Amino acid sequence: MQEFQGNVAVITGAASGIGKGLARQCAAEGMRVVLADVDEAGLGEIRSELEKRGTEVLAVPTDVRQAENVDALAAASLEKFGAVHLVFNNAGVLLSGFAWERTDDDWRWVLDVNLFGVINGVRSFMPILLDQGGPGHIVNTASVGGLMAGPFLSPYIVSKHAVVALTESVYHELATLDTQVGISVLCPGPIATGIGDSERIRPADQSDTRALESEAEKEYDSQLSSGILSGMEPDEVGRIVFEGLRGDRFWIYTHPVYREAIQGRMESILSGTNPAHAMELPENLAPGS
Ligand SMILES: NC(=O)c1ccc[n+]([C@@H]2O[C@H](COP(=O)([O-])OP(=O)(O)OC[C@H]3O[C@@H](n4cnc5c(N)ncnc54)[C@H](O)[C@@H]3O)[C@@H](O)[C@H]2O)c1
Repeated sequence: MQEFQGNVAVITGAASGIGKGLARQCAAEGMRVVLADVDEAGLGEIRSELEKRGTEVLAVPTDVRQAENVDALAAASLEKFGAVHLVFNNAGVLLSGFAWERTDDDWRWVLDVNLFGVINGVRSFMPILLDQGGPGHIVNTASVGGLMAGPFLSPYIVSKHAVVALTESVYHELATLDTQVGISVLCPGPIATGIGDSERIRPADQSDTRALESEAEKEYDSQLSSGILSGMEPDEVGRIVFEGLRGDRFWIYTHPVYREAIQGRMESILSGTNPAHAMELPENLAPGS
């Protein structure tokens, strides 16, 4: 997709972190913007920020776990702006701990937001993009955790591998059609956002969880949180994503430094050697490294 000025972008998870960075970049590109999130206070803040810059904004409180909520988001976007061109299925949550000690609610919350949120976004918006007949694009936010596995993040890693698989499958499906609609997958490394404190927006209907008990889990969790907080600035992700869109790229990465670990994982799959412990944070996380 090459034309952004005056076109309409929809962003889920827009009230914080990467979603906010994407929203700011959409505004900088002269787009009209639909912001969606469960965090209504956060939505209000980014809406006012963008409106002050003169951007046309619609904020729609949305729970991406619910297919009918995402359908309503699509309907509200069309009602306000008459079209949708660019959709970021970006909302996500994270929790850690041994896979077998995570509760049913832990598993379902993460999969409902990170995977079904993206599925719902594709189901609600792809028919609209295709019916419009012009250029359109969906960007699904996965993670480097969608390309390699590691300890203590099973629900998250499972959800992100599934988002990569879904997005790649849809990419192949689009190739069977005569369409200008495309799809990309964003696989960020550590970005300085609120994801390490996802419990702040945990819904009451999936709140049953269990505290981390072992030293290994606690140690990993605290390293992960500090690695995230010292990560790349979310606004930089917004710029990288638009570079990717202009370059017609399916895979959009923020941290090329992970290439070696991903390659090691792929080689282990092909050669049948046992997995190396690949999820340790690389030492050099400098943006663009
Ligand atoms: N921060 C990182 O290091 C990192 C790395 C790789 C991938 N990601 C992915 O980036 C995406 C954005 O996360 P972030 O890091 O900006 O975190 P964040 O916590 O700052 O933002 C996530 C947003 O999603 C919203 N959200 C959560 N559940 C929702 C729901 N049910 N419906 C609608 N909105 C909901 C939250 O309210 C929040 O505003 C996620 O998919 C995350 O997995 C983040």
